[in-house]
Amino acid sequence: MNISIIGSGYVGLVTGACLAELGNKVTCVDNDVKKISNLKEGLIPIYEPGLDELIKRNAKNKRLTFITSIKEAVKTSEIIFIAVGTPPLENGEADLTGIENVARNIALSMDGYRLIVEKSTVPVATCNWIKKTLSTYLKKNIKFDIVSNPEFLREGSAIYDFTHPDRIVVGVESIKARQIMLKLYSYLNCPIIFTNIQSAELIKHASNAFLATKISFINSVSRICDLTGADVKEVAQGMGLDNRIGKYFLHAGIGYGGSCFPKDLEAFMNISEKLGYDFEILKAVRETNEKQKLYVLQKIKDALWIIKDKTIAVLGLTFKPNTDDLRNSPSIDLINLLKAEGAKIKVYDPKAMTNAKNILKGVTFCQDAYKASKGADCILLATEWGEFKELDFSKLKKIVRRPLLVDGRNIYNPKLIKDAGFTYIGVGRGNE
Ligand code: UGA
Repeated sequence: MNISIIGSGYVGLVTGACLAELGNKVTCVDNDVKKISNLKEGLIPIYEPGLDELIKRNAKNKRLTFITSIKEAVKTSEIIFIAVGTPPLENGEADLTGIENVARNIALSMDGYRLIVEKSTVPVATCNWIKKTLSTYLKKNIKFDIVSNPEFLREGSAIYDFTHPDRIVVGVESIKARQIMLKLYSYLNCPIIFTNIQSAELIKHASNAFLATKISFINSVSRICDLTGADVKEVAQGMGLDNRIGKYFLHAGIGYGGSCFPKDLEAFMNISEKLGYDFEILKAVRETNEKQKLYVLQKIKDALWIIKDKTIAVLGLTFKPNTDDLRNSPSIDLINLLKAEGAKIKVYDPKAMTNAKNILKGVTFCQDAYKASKGADCILLATEWGEFKELDFSKLKKIVRRPLLVDGRNIYNPKLIKDAGFTYIGVGRGNE
């Protein structure tokens, strides 16, 4: 099928590359001229495992092209995906300016039936506005269908998630749209759920909000664990084996971050309020997440007594492993809190050092975890990158100033760390 994807950000690029890999002819569009010229030269703007090769392979086979003109893309495509950003406004509301702009430009470029698929994360009822916008700006009485097809890709495993989805959600209004979407996704072996458009839009916000709720719930449980001697990892395992609860998203730690959960939670609360409902539970989820960072800061303070002039090695800067994305990273928040207390910060991240240099000032950037830990009074594990799981703590013991580990993601076995001569502090690990 001929497909265009408008918006070559994270979602657009992964979707475009994966649809090309399935054998479609895909045109990725973006109004960022530099980004498009870089993509044409094979320079991928984000780090996502496997994406680089996927884009290069499909670009070489001419199944994936990059352009800046919506008009040109609309001319040649049967299906047009909207995958532009919906960043938060100051009040938490999703900024839909990009979506409106794209919808208008699609309408002005259409010369016949098109299927328009909304993929950006948007508040419920946005597709209705897209429909109205298309009808308003279409030059002739041209038919079109609109579909809501939210994405559930996780950064760091986006290509796997695209090719092995738990489900595909498609909100449709016509049989024709349903058939086209069925054909498009027929190569993926998973349930396809057809719903009405509003339900599909809501499934996305509700899913992300529920996952964030799970995390804040287990983080709250971690507090009780610390107060009683229970180990949150054992508690999570015992809870997670109940199929009704499920084992995923029950890892306690320094809290969730990223470009999705914090933003989507705000947008979901905002649209709920506009509709006249106060989604109180989500306010508690957000507050718990914010407090979790302060809780870890307090743990460091309790161990060091005075933070001023102490050297803290922060391992991991990204909001999760396997990405170079620093947006809303709890690691960065903790660094800023520690800096405000007068700590000297040394940092290392396997993939985000270049990005970090743009946003972190007054810290020492180190080439690896050992260099970061040299002379440190405390090592803070902030992101659970695979290479940190392999660290040699006997070696670290010899180079730190004080053997203190704060395991912000609960990845280590406390006994092994203690055996190596360190004081171990986890999140909810009970009588560490
Ligand atoms: C999230 C969703 O998981 C995707 O399904 C969705 O498509 C995406 O948002 C989106 O809306 O675009 P993502 O933000 O990439 O994906 O990352 P997650 O794996 O969900 O992790 C989010 C945050 O939660 C990370 O900071 C992670 O460290 C934290 N987390 C996750 C925990 O603290 N504990 C857990 O048990 C799981």
